[in-house]
Amino acid sequence: MAKTYHHSLLLVLFILLNFIKHSEELQSSQAQTLLRIRRLLNFPVVLSSWSNNTDFCNTEPKSSLTLVCYEESITQLHIIGNNGAPLLPRNFSLHSFVTTLVKLPDLKVLTLVSLGLWGTLPGKIARLSTLEILNVSSNYLYGSIPQELSSLTSLQTLILDDNMFSGRLPDWLSSLQILTVLSLKKNSFNGSLPSSLGSLENLRVLALSHNHFYGAVPDFDRLTNLQVLDLEDNAFGPQFPQLGKKLLTLVLSKNRFRSGIPAEVSSYYQLQRLDVSFNTFVGPFPTSLLSLPSITYLNIAGNRFTGMLFENLSCNAELEFVDLSSNLLTGTLPSCLLTDSKERVVLYARNCLDNGKKNQHPYSFCRNEALAVGIPPHQKKRKEASKAVLALGIIGGVVGAIALLGLILLIVRRVNAKRGTMVKKPPTRLIAENASAGYTSKILSDARYISQTMKLGAVGLPAYRTFSLEEIEEATNNFHTSAFMGEGSHGQMYRGRLKDGSIVAVRCLKIKKSRSTHNFMHHIELISKLRHRHLVSALGHCFECYLDDSSVSRIFLVFEYIPNGTLRSWISEGHSRPRLTWTQRVAAAIGVAKGIQFLHTGIVPGVYSNNLKITDILLDQNLVAKISSYYLPLITDDMGKVGRGISRSGSKDPVLNARVKQEEKVDVYDFGVILLEIILGRQLTSRNEVGILKDRLQGCIAADEAARRSMVDPAVHKACLDQSLRTMMEICVRCLLKDPADRPSVEDVLWNLQFAAQVQDAWCGDSQSSDGSPVSASQSRILTFR
Ligand SMILES: *[C@@H]1O[C@H](CO)[C@@H](O)[C@H](O)[C@H]1NC(C)=O
Ligand SMILES: *[C@@H]1O[C@H](CO)[C@@H](O)[C@H](O)[C@H]1NC(C)=O
Ligand SMILES: *[C@@H]1O[C@H](CO)[C@@H](O)[C@H](O)[C@H]1NC(C)=O
Ligand SMILES: *[C@@H]1O[C@H](CO)[C@@H](O)[C@H](O)[C@H]1NC(C)=O
Ligand SMILES: *[C@@H]1O[C@H](CO)[C@@H](O)[C@H](O)[C@H]1NC(C)=O
Repeated sequence: MAKTYHHSLLLVLFILLNFIKHSEELQSSQAQTLLRIRRLLNFPVVLSSWSNNTDFCNTEPKSSLTLVCYEESITQLHIIGNNGAPLLPRNFSLHSFVTTLVKLPDLKVLTLVSLGLWGTLPGKIARLSTLEILNVSSNYLYGSIPQELSSLTSLQTLILDDNMFSGRLPDWLSSLQILTVLSLKKNSFNGSLPSSLGSLENLRVLALSHNHFYGAVPDFDRLTNLQVLDLEDNAFGPQFPQLGKKLLTLVLSKNRFRSGIPAEVSSYYQLQRLDVSFNTFVGPFPTSLLSLPSITYLNIAGNRFTGMLFENLSCNAELEFVDLSSNLLTGTLPSCLLTDSKERVVLYARNCLDNGKKNQHPYSFCRNEALAVGIPPHQKKRKEASKAVLALGIIGGVVGAIALLGLILLIVRRVNAKRGTMVKKPPTRLIAENASAGYTSKILSDARYISQTMKLGAVGLPAYRTFSLEEIEEATNNFHTSAFMGEGSHGQMYRGRLKDGSIVAVRCLKIKKSRSTHNFMHHIELISKLRHRHLVSALGHCFECYLDDSSVSRIFLVFEYIPNGTLRSWISEGHSRPRLTWTQRVAAAIGVAKGIQFLHTGIVPGVYSNNLKITDILLDQNLVAKISSYYLPLITDDMGKVGRGISRSGSKDPVLNARVKQEEKVDVYDFGVILLEIILGRQLTSRNEVGILKDRLQGCIAADEAARRSMVDPAVHKACLDQSLRTMMEICVRCLLKDPADRPSVEDVLWNLQFAAQVQDAWCGDSQSSDGSPVSASQSRILTFR
């Protein structure tokens, strides 16, 4: 009995000793792994204390380096390099690094910050299946979050701040059911948030600031534990998010929120920090926010909050920072904010408050702007952190009053103040001053003065008008990705559907230099007149302005949407479309020439040097050719001058007249290239190729009919009359002549094309379909020249 007892005691002692020994000494394989990690990280300074003899489990924890062992295994590893550590060298492989790392299988907490790690995060990291906290901030990791992370069911904290991760947030994040901290600040994530995020009921911190997220914030009603929500500097909006009541910190600044602040925010009794600055919030400022029981930081700057403040309002004594600047507040700053405390910062410039009058707008400014809030509120665009920003959009259906645009603020005010009396009031005077010399906007808006061409040209289009920003956002589903058509050097294009069901194309132009709306008046006026059957015409525009100085931040141009593809896709091989018949080709060429003629002579001043390309000629549902990309005066970087390509024809200045002629012939050359492609039915890629083919064409004209037919697109060569073909070839060659003075005028071109059409028409009569084209005869009829 005693012996047994003795034995047991020994055994316990042995186990105990063994345990102590092992608790102090790391498995040698893990020690090797750590040394290898040091080598893969290129021997960073922070790991310089490590050597073959280091007793890893008994190192003194430092703020930059901490190791924690449990039993004989590492459970926590924190390595924090120098702030702004450069990229690891080219031979670094994140893949090998992670392959090494997962040999520490019991890791629960892993911090690898500022180590210069670069690459896409390998899914293999999910082999650390017990991981609870992962912080890899301030590295150079890119790509998306690997889906394998979804298997880390113990993960509570995921911090990827200050990297280069991109793409949308994955739906599967909701499988990390015990996640409490998700911090993805300063990356390049985009897209809208998955609604599944709203099911992470344990979430306490959600930090998504400084990314490119957009759209509505999902319903976070169920996130009852949420304490910190930081969405700063994205494009979220427009509705205020649905949130639980336990928030301590709510940061929505620099987004696109533009609703009012809902009443329930006044019941966020734990809220300490509220920052809604630089959005376009509207409506009354809920003064109860000042007296929330826990509030210490309140920033509402750069919105359009309205309402009157009273001296006797109460505020929380703990308030340290209040910024009310750049809103539309009136009344008197509450005295509780004015105490001479050094601890407290109170900013309130650029409102209409009584206090001191310093840096305040006159009362009428806020009152009138407040009235204008009745107009759909608009999104903001930050310009300078200190500056108030306001987007301003305009409603109106005025064709003739386009010129008033420069004075929108004024007009809005006046319309509100004295409806109906604005016509003869100061705005008109200012218009006259701003309109270009020689003709006033008033005259231009008068139908009697609008050229015949223009009246005939713009058939079937709705009147040119201003659009409100809201309308445009609604039409493009808030500039949704699915509406995105493409991006040129001048900004993005979106497809949109207006309320009346019509489809439009919206072009967004960012304005870099600070200019007020009236700087654009002249251009807008011109654009509003560029309407013709053979131009993709502008239907209207919308200005978005900054509030502080009313300078324009963006201009949206709304164009008709032409659905049927480019002329090239109807002509050259390799497209699934049926190819145009000869008759249709001539008609299309006539359309393009008429469009050019209108650009040159249909408006004053004419628009030249349009850099015309066959890919910019679109066909509508009736196969009517329309020039989609002509010289738009707004789309020049140099807004100072009235733009390249615009000259006044009929000027008395002979030099200017000569230049106009020259510029006219630039378009004629470009037209020649288009015509060449129409005739040959193949894509032309270089100017050199054009030169060679022009010479061959010239040879054919002098040769016999067979030679000419061998040259023309085989898809139509049987169906075209030689006389028609020959005329087209001749005019094409002349358009492409080297010396601009030798090229024909647009009128000359048009005359020849019409001749080519007429002879062809007379020849084929009703044997239209005999060319075997799959395009129906009825369609071709519509196209025949008129
Ligand atoms: C990477 O290259 C450097 C020299 O440029 C060398 O010292 C280092 O050992 C290499 N690291 C790896 C992991 O191969
Ligand atoms: C550490 O060990 C490795 C191999 O185990 C050896 O190559 C190296 O020379 C050792 N370094 C020192 C400083 O002992
Ligand atoms: C990630 O780790 C770094 C270094 O310890 C720390 O400064 C940072 O606050 C951590 N991130 C979060 C969101 O806790
Ligand atoms: C989102 O980011 C990805 C990757 O950078 C990019 O390919 C995609 O076009 C972006 N989408 C939008 C709508 O910006
Ligand atoms: C504060 O002052 C305003 C007008 O000065 C008054 O209408 C209001 O009743 C006062 N409120 C309180 C709580 O005294």
